[in-house]
Amino acid sequence: MDVYLETMGCQMNRLDSELVVARLRAAGHEIVASSADADAVLYNTCSVRMHAEQKVFSRLGADAQRKAAGRKLIVGVLGCMAQRLGRQLRKRYPCVDIVCGPGQLARLPQMLAFAADGQPAIALDVDRNDRAAAEDENIDWIDLVRDADRTTSSAQAFVRVMRGCDRFCTYCIVPFVRGAEVSRPGDHIEQEVRRLVEAGKSEITLLGQTVNRYRHEGDGRSTRFSDLLARLSDIDGLRRLRFVTSHPTDFTDDILQAMAELPNVCEYLHCPAQSGSDAVLKRMNRGYSRGDYDDLIDRARAIVPGVSIAGDFIVGFPGETDADQQASADLLRRCGYKNAFIFKYSPRPGTPAAKRFDDDIDEQTKKRRHAELLGVQDEIGLAHHRSYVGRQVEVLVEGPSKRADKQPTPPPAGQTQLQGRTRGDHIVVFDGPETLASQYVHVDVTNATALAMMGRLKAES
Ligand code: SAH
Ligand code: SF4
Ligand code: F3S
Repeated sequence: MDVYLETMGCQMNRLDSELVVARLRAAGHEIVASSADADAVLYNTCSVRMHAEQKVFSRLGADAQRKAAGRKLIVGVLGCMAQRLGRQLRKRYPCVDIVCGPGQLARLPQMLAFAADGQPAIALDVDRNDRAAAEDENIDWIDLVRDADRTTSSAQAFVRVMRGCDRFCTYCIVPFVRGAEVSRPGDHIEQEVRRLVEAGKSEITLLGQTVNRYRHEGDGRSTRFSDLLARLSDIDGLRRLRFVTSHPTDFTDDILQAMAELPNVCEYLHCPAQSGSDAVLKRMNRGYSRGDYDDLIDRARAIVPGVSIAGDFIVGFPGETDADQQASADLLRRCGYKNAFIFKYSPRPGTPAAKRFDDDIDEQTKKRRHAELLGVQDEIGLAHHRSYVGRQVEVLVEGPSKRADKQPTPPPAGQTQLQGRTRGDHIVVFDGPETLASQYVHVDVTNATALAMMGRLKAES
């Protein structure tokens, strides 16, 4: 079958899509770049904000029309939205043939075969309260059989270290759609990373919704996140090891020390604050105060020299006052983030916040606060990236740059405008031959914007 797969969610979803592609290829299917002639269209969906779900509904509307017009097509909804809406999806959109929760993706080849026979196929994850069932499930079978040669980039790969989330921030749908927090055994993770490194990947990003809460008990020993970092950092050929996303609670000094001491663990931290106001943090059930977050950033800067930090914020959470908003702006300034993702609050059905609080901040105020924080972060991002001008950075080249605006002069003959990342996850744009893709080079930084640095290629390393 020719299968078209569109991915709408976070890095965890992107990894899931990659694993799905590997399974489908192994089952003899072809992955195609356009839905126009596909036999099956699959959407790997996200439920985190309403906007992400609306996109899927509009795709399904178009697919329904194509099918009504006589087109033979299998339509599948995978991932978080499939889990959130379950059977309702098929009631609302009878054109949907496959509904597959994020923990059931290994079944997809079978489900496609079913759908090809004209049978709807539905596989949803176990109830998150049934922890025994969750632990019994083969949580990482699909991770272990991945195709190490075909990751998103030839030098980089994501590796899941845990599934689910137990934090229950009041605004968030993730604990309901991704299930209970379960950490993978360290042996499995190490085995997967070794295979990827043997296949030529030199930069591995460990994924978890609250990755620093990783803890695995088994065979009479307990592995903390810092132990896992130490274990993986020993793998020969692994040049960069990163992890996202961290939660500000449970961020103990042993992790920061591991970042400082293990040479291949990158000095990069993505640790969302969500708000700078204690009152809002409390209603969000984040589990820390503004003071705790400030303290974490201070500890990170003290223990990990040169650490670059990224954050997330939500504006317009129920009851948020102008003073709360100022507290968030103040936190942005204090943290000196490399970049910050800023979202407008979107009530998600079934979450504690949607049940408890009115979505009482009007859209215009949300927009204004959103623009205000983006403006503040622009200044901070610019200052942060400018502080590298005149310095030399190590860059893993990702490929041709999509930021055509960044270099004032076109590249010389035989060269392309390339883009890569530093250990601190900064984007660096410079001219060089395309053959440098997936290699490590040194770049002299000559200029900067709020989101990137520009520079001159120094020497290969
Ligand atoms: N597990 C990660 C992030 C998960 S969702 C963490 O805890 O950091 C990614 C980001 O989406 C969150 O950090 C938050 O800023 C945002 N987000 C989550 N739910 C949201 C909602 N209902 N409305 C707006 N933004 C939301
Ligand atoms: Fe959502 Fe909070 Fe869990 Fe992150 S920690 S996934 S924001 S509930
Ligand atoms: Fe990721 Fe969206 Fe699901 S952020 S975990 S794809 S709800």
